Order: sequence, then C-alpha cells, then structure tokens
Amino acid sequence: MTVEAHAKINLTLEVLGTRPDGYHELRSVVAPIPLHDDVTFADAEDGVVAVEGCDGVPAEKNLAYRAARLLQDATGCRKGVRIAIAKRIPMGAGLGGGSADAAAVLTGLNRFWNLGLSADRLMALGAEIGSDVPALVHGGMVLMEGRGEKVTACADYPTPAWEKLVVYTPPVFSSTARVYGDFRDADRGAGKNDLQPAACRLYPEIRDALAKLEAEGCRDVMMSGSGSTVFGWRA
Ligand code: C5P
Repeated sequence: MTVEAHAKINLTLEVLGTRPDGYHELRSVVAPIPLHDDVTFADAEDGVVAVEGCDGVPAEKNLAYRAARLLQDATGCRKGVRIAIAKRIPMGAGLGGGSADAAAVLTGLNRFWNLGLSADRLMALGAEIGSDVPALVHGGMVLMEGRGEKVTACADYPTPAWEKLVVYTPPVFSSTARVYGDFRDADRGAGKNDLQPAACRLYPEIRDALAKLEAEGCRDVMMSGSGSTVFGWRA
C-alpha cells in the first residue's frame, strides 16, 4: 500500500509569544502543495519497524520510524512493517517534509494495521512527534494554533490562485530551532511570516532567494515555515 505525503507551505505565520515549555505560541494558515514523498507499507515480522529511503537519518531521529513505534505503543499492536520512502521533499526547507512522512505513517498504518483510530487521536499522537504533524494528519488548508496541536479546517481564508504559485528552495539547510531561537519581538508584523527576518539574518541565501522571486515579477513573495523555501505568485 502506498500513500502520498504532501509538503506544505505556510500562507501566514504569526508568532504570538513564548510558552512555559520553551516553544512558541503560533497562528498559521497551512496548505498542502503538489510536491510529495511516496510512503509504501509492506508486511514485516511481528514487532519489526524498518524504514528505508531516508539515508543518513538515524532511526530514533526519523519521524516516520517514531510515528510507527508510537502507534505500536499507543495501541499494543505487535504487527511489523517495512516502510519505504521515495523522498522528494527537501529537508531543512520549511516544507514539513519529515512531518509529512510521519503524518502519512500515522494515517497509512492506521489502515494497514486496521487500528481504527479516529482522526483526532491520530492528530494527538502526531503532536507528540512534531509541531507540524497534526496539521498534516488533518490535511487540506488548515489554521494551526498553539504549538501546532490545535488544528481547524480553514473556511474563511481566501483560496489562493494555486496555478500561479512559484516555489523556490535555495540550497541551504535552515535549522528550525535556530530560527526560533533568533526570533525577536520586533520581527513581528513586518510581513506575513514573523520568522522571516530571523531566517534572513541567519541565512543570507534566503534573503537572496526572496529578492530573486521578486525580480522575476512574483507577487506577495514570502518564506514558508522557518525556511529555507520561499514562494510567490505569478502576476
Ligand atoms: O516541534 P518541532 O520538533 O518541529 O520543533 C522544532 C523546534 O522548533 C523546536 O525545538 C523549537 O525550538 C521550535 N519551535 C518553537 N515553537 C513551535 C514549534 C517549533 O519554538 N510552536
């Protein structure tokens, strides 16, 4: 069985404050884009979780692996699985690549192992893996709040002209923790993504990428998530 794990972009991202747990309080409109990984599930011996296709990422740091183990722990399911990921979404790009794979493992294995968990339960498990995972388990265009665990379908945000979307990922890995760590109150409200000033201070390649899309005539050019991807809309 194969499922698509779609990348996301953040159409808005407001950092509302810091939380006692060290994370930041967010409000962000998140939408899936066509770019996706393919996540394939095959039978394996009982208890085994094997993940292929994420070279260089150790198992305990691999979000897809953690999602499968979390499902076993939460349900007591002892079945095994071999997960193959055909990776296309770049890492450190603000496109939610690792989170999309984890979300696909939660929803896909729920069916593959016949676990019968509700979408709400899968989103709650996703929140234990990463801040973007609940939104990607939900799917579609959503409003993400809290640390990322509060997700609602986004009814009142205008539907973007998707056919005009231009996405560019400069060749730099942006560390989410570093970008949040460099965030300052004065960064708020300069554009539609409050993390953009910090990311541009840390990674000049992102500033250059924004300028490149603007020079090409794109409108409403901005960064996705904590970068490094930038996007805009053809006139
Ligand atoms: O949840 P996730 O593992 O994706 O977060 C990566 C890092 O991003 C965290 O360690 C934290 O530094 C930062 N973060 C944050 N507030 C959020 C989400 C992420 O500070 N709401």
